[in-house]
Amino acid sequence: MGYEAAIAIAIAGASAFVVIRKLQWNARSKGLPLPPSPKGLPIIGNAFDIPTKFEWEVYEKWGQELGSDVIYANALGFSLVVLNRRKAAVHILETKSAATSSRPFSPMVCELLGWDNIIPLAPNGDEYKNKRKLFQQHFHPNNMSLHRAGLRQSLPQLLTSVLDNPGDFRHANKMFMVGTIVKLTYGVHKKDRVEYYAKLFDDALEPPMRAAIPGSYLVDIFPWLKYVPEWFPGAGFKKEARKGKELGRRFADEPLEEALKLMHSGSGEPYFVATAHADADSAGGIDPNRLRFIRDVGASVYSAGVETTLGTLDYFYYAMSVYPEVQQRAQKELDEYLKGEGLADFHDEPHLPYITAIVRELIRWQPVVPLGVAHQSTEDLVYDGLFIPKDSIIMANQWAMSLDEEEYPEPHVFKPERYLTPEGQLDPSAPNPESIAFGFGRRFCPGSHIALSTMFITVSALLELFTFTKVEEFDPERQVKIGNTRGPTDFRCGITPRVRNARDLIQSMS
Ligand code: HEM
Repeated sequence: MGYEAAIAIAIAGASAFVVIRKLQWNARSKGLPLPPSPKGLPIIGNAFDIPTKFEWEVYEKWGQELGSDVIYANALGFSLVVLNRRKAAVHILETKSAATSSRPFSPMVCELLGWDNIIPLAPNGDEYKNKRKLFQQHFHPNNMSLHRAGLRQSLPQLLTSVLDNPGDFRHANKMFMVGTIVKLTYGVHKKDRVEYYAKLFDDALEPPMRAAIPGSYLVDIFPWLKYVPEWFPGAGFKKEARKGKELGRRFADEPLEEALKLMHSGSGEPYFVATAHADADSAGGIDPNRLRFIRDVGASVYSAGVETTLGTLDYFYYAMSVYPEVQQRAQKELDEYLKGEGLADFHDEPHLPYITAIVRELIRWQPVVPLGVAHQSTEDLVYDGLFIPKDSIIMANQWAMSLDEEEYPEPHVFKPERYLTPEGQLDPSAPNPESIAFGFGRRFCPGSHIALSTMFITVSALLELFTFTKVEEFDPERQVKIGNTRGPTDFRCGITPRVRNARDLIQSMS
């Protein structure tokens, strides 16, 4: 066979391959188009378009420019689908939840750093199902009185810290959230231990947070790089991964060991590890696998519950300092109902609709999980005449949904009134941002009731005791800490007591 014939056969073979792929694609997509996407480059697709900063804003802008609520990007073979409106998220992530509730696999985060053992990052499967079930058994809304008791015990420490040292309110918020979660999960409440875990957990969460920024590590694009030895030039990521993985191990193991010691010393408190251990014991005995599940669920509570609720609480101080009229209306509601005789308790919530409306507005106005937690599709899907291929990474742009003018007119204004009737009661017909902020479908946040209770009790106590004033310019849209969750960078606000008996009121809670 001559040279020309060989070339002709090669070209014919390549063309046949392209035609077969095209026919297979047409059969899968039934000729339907992919969602609109920015124009990419050959082979690498939209690799250079994928944003690494304020991604939620860029995706919303793409949606506006492309005239679609669902947009698509293809980067080096990865399909990314972003849902900019709630209607699309409900259809794709809830109605079709069976096919859209897995999680994408990142070689760096999941394998090299070893974080796919926690519930939010675990792919679908029995391990995931059993861990979520174990979480829900203990942190179930039916057990709310248990969690609320824990919250009530942690709150006086926060209020006293803000009273004594108002300039350090951010640190006080952090210790409150870390303290509440390690108490509910591990039974740990000594101040020095809470400080210790706050530092360990920050250090341990830093590597996966960094790795979650798209494009941070080439190994996520070329997974075979994971086999390159650590000493190989350019393989610095392997050393980072080794150190990060060890921190991740300590993150999960150390508090578990302390919780077990407390349990064996007879603390008798009903925190998660002790209860799950006792349940396993009475159901046939505890084995290493069961203990591993308890460890991973414990680590899930911290990694999913602290930064999210903390970011929302931090934004509360800022919101009150720039919306004094909201603050005054809330304080009037508290004063009229409580008459200065004590701090609000959970059972007071139905009588304090404006406080509930403030909590709702906080989770809407500054979404702390702006792109949700990425889902992955496990089947081909069709939405509104658009084809969404299997294995797409699907992100719910919760930031864009929360600021959707059609559901929330004047979306950038902090307006709790939007949830109230003219008589000041909660309006059941008003859109509720809880249906956005806590995600969608089978992966819906199982800790939402704890987050909302934390915010209600904290916001009502802080508003009853203090006045918040603006002392410096701060841009809540730009001055944000970037990571998996979005929270404000450092800012100051004036905090002064508004009642004389603040300390007595705090003590009455203890
Ligand atoms: C304001 C506070 C919070 C916000 C905004 C929030 C939001 C979210 C979101 C958006 C997801 C992903 C849902 C999805 O994939 O569609 C999630 C998952 C999760 N959240 Fe929360 N969350 C908060 C507080 C908490 C708390 C306090 C806990 C624990 C006590 C918690 C535990 C979890 C867990 C375990 C998951 C993983 C669920 C799964 O993948 O099956 N969250 N949360």
